[in-house]
Amino acid sequence: MIEFSDGVFRLTTENTSYWFQITPFGHLEHIFYGPRLRDQPPEALALKRTAVIGSSVYYDPSDTTYCLDNICLEWSGIGRGDFRHPPVEIKMPDGTFTCDFKYVSHRIVNGFIPMKTLPSAYGNESECTALEITLKDHSNDVILLMYYTVYEKTNVITRRTVLENHNEKPLTIRRLMSLMLDLPDRNFKMITFDGGWIKEANRHDVPLKYGIFVNSSTTGSSSNRHNPGFLLAERDATEQNGYVYGFNLVYSGNHYGAVELSNHRLVRVNLGINPHCFDWTLNKNESFETPEAIMTFSSGGFNGMSRNFHDFINSNIVRGDWKGKERPIVINTWESFFFKYNGRKLISLARQAKKLGIELFVLDDGWFGKRNDDNAGLGDYAVNRKKFPEGLANFAGKIRKEGLMFGLWFEPEMINPDSDLYRAHPEYAVKTPGKEPTLGRNQLVLDLCNPGVRDYIVENVGRVLDETEAVYVKWDMNRHISDAFSPYIQNQGEFFHRYIMGLYDILGRIFKNRPHILVESCSSGGNRFDLGMLCYSQQIWASDNTDPVERLKIQSGLSYLYPLSAIAAHVSDAPHQQTLRNSPLATRFNVSCFGCMGYEMDIRFLSPAEKREIKRQTEFYKKHRKTFQYGYFYRLRAQKENKFHFECMSQDGSEAIAGFFQTLATPSESFDFLPLTGLDPDAKYEVATYPQSLFLKRFGGLVKHIMPFTLNPEGFLLRTANRFYCLTDCVEKYVGYGDMLMSGIMLNNQFMGSHYNNNTRLLGDFGSNLYIITRLND
Ligand code: GLA
Repeated sequence: MIEFSDGVFRLTTENTSYWFQITPFGHLEHIFYGPRLRDQPPEALALKRTAVIGSSVYYDPSDTTYCLDNICLEWSGIGRGDFRHPPVEIKMPDGTFTCDFKYVSHRIVNGFIPMKTLPSAYGNESECTALEITLKDHSNDVILLMYYTVYEKTNVITRRTVLENHNEKPLTIRRLMSLMLDLPDRNFKMITFDGGWIKEANRHDVPLKYGIFVNSSTTGSSSNRHNPGFLLAERDATEQNGYVYGFNLVYSGNHYGAVELSNHRLVRVNLGINPHCFDWTLNKNESFETPEAIMTFSSGGFNGMSRNFHDFINSNIVRGDWKGKERPIVINTWESFFFKYNGRKLISLARQAKKLGIELFVLDDGWFGKRNDDNAGLGDYAVNRKKFPEGLANFAGKIRKEGLMFGLWFEPEMINPDSDLYRAHPEYAVKTPGKEPTLGRNQLVLDLCNPGVRDYIVENVGRVLDETEAVYVKWDMNRHISDAFSPYIQNQGEFFHRYIMGLYDILGRIFKNRPHILVESCSSGGNRFDLGMLCYSQQIWASDNTDPVERLKIQSGLSYLYPLSAIAAHVSDAPHQQTLRNSPLATRFNVSCFGCMGYEMDIRFLSPAEKREIKRQTEFYKKHRKTFQYGYFYRLRAQKENKFHFECMSQDGSEAIAGFFQTLATPSESFDFLPLTGLDPDAKYEVATYPQSLFLKRFGGLVKHIMPFTLNPEGFLLRTANRFYCLTDCVEKYVGYGDMLMSGIMLNNQFMGSHYNNNTRLLGDFGSNLYIITRLND
């Protein structure tokens, strides 16, 4: 809901209020963003101006207390007394950098106002209301349109700006943010999600200090270094309590998010396109629109904030037939075979996958051109006839005959110098004239500013999809952009943004009229995990790291900003290719369940006991995947440093699944506690361990302690036994009311070196359990 009265704008969602007003000088002054308030005069909340603050520049001699530097603003400019970090830097038509945008008019509309050049959130008239405010810099005839869209149910407000030049002379935009927000400090800290390849989205907390902290990317994509989403939270906020603000950007390119603490302890948030190498010329009557930024607030801690983002992304970002649909269980060929496969090998993998309950077969890298390793072939679409003598369409048909859906990997934005495309069109590759281009993974980036390149990709990917009748696409992008330059644009300051607009054009043209395709985007894992990509792909490959212990950090980091329905997570072989760590099959599964679960391993050579276990896993996941993918997800505070706790509660409250994860075992581990949340205190539940298998080989020579006779741990008998038999992990069951269970369940003792029976929890390093919580009928 958006209301305007007495110069005050009130934006209201189910649980939040966002207020700002027009000052007597025409600036927009931010008043409040926090828990929902009833309608009342805002005086008590607004910052006071009862004294002149020394060393400040006053805006107008008629009021020496009105200093832009000390006001919470919705938008600011340059050169009029606000010395904080500005949301704009424009070389104005008169050649100055001074700009001063003041209120002219506004309009409120039901629904959202669509964007012209970029993807955005969407919703129908009952879901959202939009506000367009026109501001003007009067001396230059430059208009700034500010857009707010209020998504009532999910407690999200989106922000973006459009700059219009009505002056005869051109202007140059050097910086134009999507969102600027000023708040009085509440002892905030900033939380970012950072990393790199195979270590994406690790949470980092930085208490605000005087100055500016920047969370940005310059790699050409939103990057694995710093996810565009970040949070501001009261320093003592927990998962369940405290003020938390969330910010994110619907954009896949270079982003810039900055939080400044000013000398007067006002906090300024800026979020938008990174000004790095950015410069955009606007001629008369041209306009430029910034990507949409989203923000949310919760007084219910980090989980409350995440729930808003999760619900919003599921209902107002993700599109296509797969919106809200349960995601199939995948077998992916990458970690199964890398490039080393042929049709026969793949079919036997598919056959086995079907037997284990897997639903979708994904042919990853290596099916086209001379792609037998990562040196060649990107850019080419002719099938590799050595691997697929009868063609790809024929192969896809065989996969379907085995009873699986067929999906395919592409890396359309890239080109190898060793490819037919490069030999025919070297000018398609991004490179700076006069410099040898710098390679990444032996490849160059295609120039998406060039419409011919875009057509080439749209035609070829589209053709292969139609020929193979693929229902899933993994859209990959495996290098950062260097040597940025395109002969197709005059102003190279436009390159990075035009690349991303080119990408969105391609994705739109391929997938808008193929809505039945489930798209998983990927960029060396989570190098482009952002809301822009989620407008075209329903899910994203979170990381090339499939080690579950690392995944706990990565998936937990991503879960602050993105729903589990968007996070792809696969069970792979151990020891893990990325860390050489060995982890139990159960933990690999238990972690992958908190996401779109699949397998990425050579399941053909698993032992019969392991195959039985995987079959049980897929049955269990299918039964509960709606809860995992679309339920309410909670991160729960661990009482001990070596634990992670997750929980998913079904939307109807009838069941929940809790994950208990141990990283390194400690000797003689103290009592363990299973925290639970989100239950109805007055309802009765059963809590039971999901029974999982323990494989004998995990215990090596130790099995002699539970055997009546001694066996050679490397000998034939034990090796054979390990292939066919396994132990069942300890199963616990509890019944009680929600109030008691949410106080935390004290679990059975872990194995401590002194005693073993069926009631001992055998976790060791990297052990874990799932607990199924079922609401009982009264
Ligand atoms: C990237 C992806 C992987 C896989 C390979 C194929 O690294 O993240 O999942 O698809 O490319 O080359």
